[in-house]
Amino acid sequence: MVKSTGIKKRTVIFISGNGSNMKNLIKFSKIKNSPIKVDLVISSNKKSSAIQYLKKNKINFKIFNFRQKNKDERKIINILKKRKTQLICLAGFMKILSGNFIKRFKGKILNIHPSLLPKYKGLKTHERAIHNKEKFSGCTVHFVNSKLDSGKIIIQKKVKINKKDDPNTLSKKILKQEHLLYPKALKKILSKT
Ligand code: GAR
Repeated sequence: MVKSTGIKKRTVIFISGNGSNMKNLIKFSKIKNSPIKVDLVISSNKKSSAIQYLKKNKINFKIFNFRQKNKDERKIINILKKRKTQLICLAGFMKILSGNFIKRFKGKILNIHPSLLPKYKGLKTHERAIHNKEKFSGCTVHFVNSKLDSGKIIIQKKVKINKKDDPNTLSKKILKQEHLLYPKALKKILSKT
């Protein structure tokens, strides 16, 4: 588990998409009493619009496409070892990390998922929740273990699904809540008070 020492945890964020959670975590890391310091971002997508943001804000980043997963993971492990990474936040990271990688950072990898886990693990969460006529969906921050979207839950937020919602409107509503939830989860596991 991640021990709280009062010093900001050296954190690496993994992304694949637009990086709105990443930007939000970077902003959060800059708050005075934030428990994290974003040291590096790893993107599996060189076309992510987040790259421009990282360049503009002079934040270290590296791109790995994970086509040769073992090779890329080995390189990443070496980089993180050198940087003395203490925490990994997956934020819209759409690749599946190997059991070996997860073991190497046991209890130090968090993920945000756009559903109320254990419901709707995997992809197309909003489509499936609407199709099943769920009244609520939401988001979850959890520790990552070797089973997809199955690690210990840290915190969740429920979001109401309205009759008029489609996957697009629901994903926007949930994303807004994700931006509140990820910092809350980090405070919960890392802050002393
Ligand atoms: C977020 O909704 C996140 O929960 C989801 O992808 C989106 C990324 O948005 N993650 C997963 O589905 C992981 N399985 P962002 O790139 O704007 O942060």
